[in-house]
Amino acid sequence: MADPDYLYVPYRLTILRAPRQPLVVLPETLSECTGPVFGHDSVTESCSDLTRQHAGEPMGQRIIVTGRVSDEDGRPITNTLVEIWQANAAGRYFHEVDRHDAPLDPNFTGGGRALTDSNGCYRFTTIKPGAYPWQNHKNAWRPAHIHFSLFGASFSSRLITQMYFPGDPLLDFDPIFHSVPDESSRQLLIARFDLAATKPEWALAYRFDIVLRGRHATPFEA
Ligand SMILES: [Fe+2]
Repeated sequence: MADPDYLYVPYRLTILRAPRQPLVVLPETLSECTGPVFGHDSVTESCSDLTRQHAGEPMGQRIIVTGRVSDEDGRPITNTLVEIWQANAAGRYFHEVDRHDAPLDPNFTGGGRALTDSNGCYRFTTIKPGAYPWQNHKNAWRPAHIHFSLFGASFSSRLITQMYFPGDPLLDFDPIFHSVPDESSRQLLIARFDLAATKPEWALAYRFDIVLRGRHATPFEA
């Protein structure tokens, strides 16, 4: 099992969040299975470029993040909505509850979305997020990460995970990363540096492939 348990004591919030009673399975009805998920037409090219959502360019290291979404047999998951959200280069979210003493960037909101193409591939342009403190334990810092959400064919099929960066020294100390019990599964959450996808004189690139099922499945949050 690659996914983290509901309860992982070193990740303190899970003590409050984890269910204490057996889960009750709610049967899906026709509306959850067939209702509209989102308007495909409203996802435009500009949604996937987080560096061009404001008047000016955001501060930070420009990066390209690409990847392929596939099932356990390597078949592409096409036309699926991939959403990302992240902190700015200073490690601050554009969100009212983020009280980290780091600057907001007027040119960076940190949210983007894209549809996978006929080969299951997605692509974002963004800036590398900074690490931020999070008070889980003494001197706790989240490693740089990008949150990912994938929508399936229905509103009730949504998967959430986080992408990390290779070589980040904070990974060793992060309880959220380590809530994924299996070392090989944890490695699947680390993007790989992709020199071929970099844009010379302009942006570095990282590749983050997402596998929905099977032995090499990407770990997802409960
Ligand atoms: Fe985060």
